[in-house]
Amino acid sequence: MSIDVRKRVAVIEGDDASPEAVRPTIALLDTMNLPIEWIYPLVGDPAMAQYGSPFPAESRAQIDGADTTFFGSTSGSSGASLFYLRWGKQTFANVRPARYLTGARSPLADPADIDLVIVRENLEDLYVRAEGELSTLAEPAPRGATIRRSVKDLAPGRYAVKAITEAGSERVIRFAFELARRRRGCLTVTAKFNMLPLTDGLFRDVALSLAQEFPDVTLETFIVDDFACRLVREPQRFDVVVMPNLYGDILSDAAAGLIGGLGMAPSGCYGNDYAYFETAHGTAPDIAGTHTINPTANLLTAAMMLDHLDLGEAASRLRAAVARVYLEGRVLTPDQGGTAGTEAFCAEVARQLECV
Ligand code: IPM
Ligand code: MG
Repeated sequence: MSIDVRKRVAVIEGDDASPEAVRPTIALLDTMNLPIEWIYPLVGDPAMAQYGSPFPAESRAQIDGADTTFFGSTSGSSGASLFYLRWGKQTFANVRPARYLTGARSPLADPADIDLVIVRENLEDLYVRAEGELSTLAEPAPRGATIRRSVKDLAPGRYAVKAITEAGSERVIRFAFELARRRRGCLTVTAKFNMLPLTDGLFRDVALSLAQEFPDVTLETFIVDDFACRLVREPQRFDVVVMPNLYGDILSDAAAGLIGGLGMAPSGCYGNDYAYFETAHGTAPDIAGTHTINPTANLLTAAMMLDHLDLGEAASRLRAAVARVYLEGRVLTPDQGGTAGTEAFCAEVARQLECV
């Protein structure tokens, strides 16, 4: 009797131009003889048409039955499945590497050696999405010097809850420390702890107390606006950077900009029992249908997924092949100054796979 060692991967192609990047990525992976079986849960508009829901129970069951999910990017219609993959699966650490590939189009004069990883807390902060009318807000005492008596005095208007918990901060910061330990041993923690001592201050304090468990990791802290400036001016100095959710959302796009844009930026979301893989996001609606979307983000995201599936050798080959395409610079998509379409780019990666 033979045992099926194949991994099952649920694929959600995403919206706008995203499927145009996901499909050739999977076609390329299929040429690598990997022990992977792809399944395609219906989400978004096709699921609506067939099941009357953008994320039916059938699709959720398919995701639950798979080893992982490979997600493109969403602009809305596939959003419910993304929320399930984050909150339903408790994937609390969103890992967003920004590594410059020589030959890619960076706005910096000297982007060489940018190699940092943003670890974004993925479930808390303003993403608890608890918003309401100021007039209904139970009054929390404003801290420190303030010229107003009450937040309610601001009404009419609205508020949003920013929730930072000790447990939620600890698990993601611990994850980031462990990642830093496996990399260059430097962890940066950033948040707005000067203005928000109770919430962002808690995030920083958790990092400071965990530091005792990781004496081999150098920890530094920056207020997030200062960090934003340093990220642009001296990105090479950063190794692993951990931050609350919203800052991570914004600054991971900024980091992607430094290495050539969202077309270059992979990501993976990890929890204790589950991980899934998505690009750092951008569905490129402006070029949907042109088959010119840059699939590099998807290919590098696939490499992160292969690592997770214990297919690390294939992951390294894929990364090396992509790097060679940029180094040679002959077949690049328009966002990187080339004229190649998505399929032609993937064909070039396939050609380079023969050489690595
Ligand atoms: C991201 C995206 C998502 C987010 C959207 C699509 C909900 O911007 O993954 O960075 O805000 O987290
Ligand atoms: Mg984003």
